[in-house]
Amino acid sequence: MPAILDIVNHAIATSTAIWSDEPVDLASRHAWLEDRRAAGSPVLVAEDDGEVVGFGSYLQFRAWSGYRHAVEHSVYVRDDRRGSGVGSLLIGALLARARADGKQVMIGGIEGRNIASLRLHRRAGFIEVGRMPGIGEKFGRKLDLVFVQKQIVYGAP
Ligand SMILES: CC(C)(COP(=O)(O)OP(=O)(O)OC[C@H]1O[C@@H](n2cnc3c(N)ncnc32)[C@H](O)[C@@H]1OP(=O)(O)O)[C@@H](O)C(=O)NCCC(=O)NCCS
Repeated sequence: MPAILDIVNHAIATSTAIWSDEPVDLASRHAWLEDRRAAGSPVLVAEDDGEVVGFGSYLQFRAWSGYRHAVEHSVYVRDDRRGSGVGSLLIGALLARARADGKQVMIGGIEGRNIASLRLHRRAGFIEVGRMPGIGEKFGRKLDLVFVQKQIVYGAP
């Protein structure tokens, strides 16, 4: 959890991956983990040589029961390990877990200028399904939210 905390706080301080300015603390990360567990959602870590170098998770896209087949995921890689395939491995592992869990669709919400994440998801077979211009703000800039989606199970509905 301390490694996940560092990765999250680095992303908050330096990027528009998380649309928040306030760092989080270890207690809130533990609460987050408990929430994910209670929801039956996985939190996966990528480990290299005993060190956590990234993590990924998903949660039902929206709480209403009609969304039970759709999950929204997130993936984060420690900044000194980006560009070496860790993000792709985490996405693959999340997709496998979601499929085994009976999920049908995986959704990601990506900031419009986050080229690394847009490329990562395109390569993993996600397609852009929506773009909401200027709905966020961070570092004095307006932010676009791009939704990407991957069908995990075909033939449904
Ligand atoms: C987005 C992120 C998870 C990608 O993880 P990663 O381990 O670096 O990704 P990979 O090494 O598996 O590379 C996947 C693709 O992204 C591309 N990529 C990675 N870093 C990049 C960068 N800085 N600029 C442009 N493309 C980049 C790779 O070239 C590759 O695309 P390609 O196969 O078409 O060449 C990682 O950069 C990260 O944690 N960023 C901060 C948090 C974040 O933005 N999370 C996603 C929120 S939606």
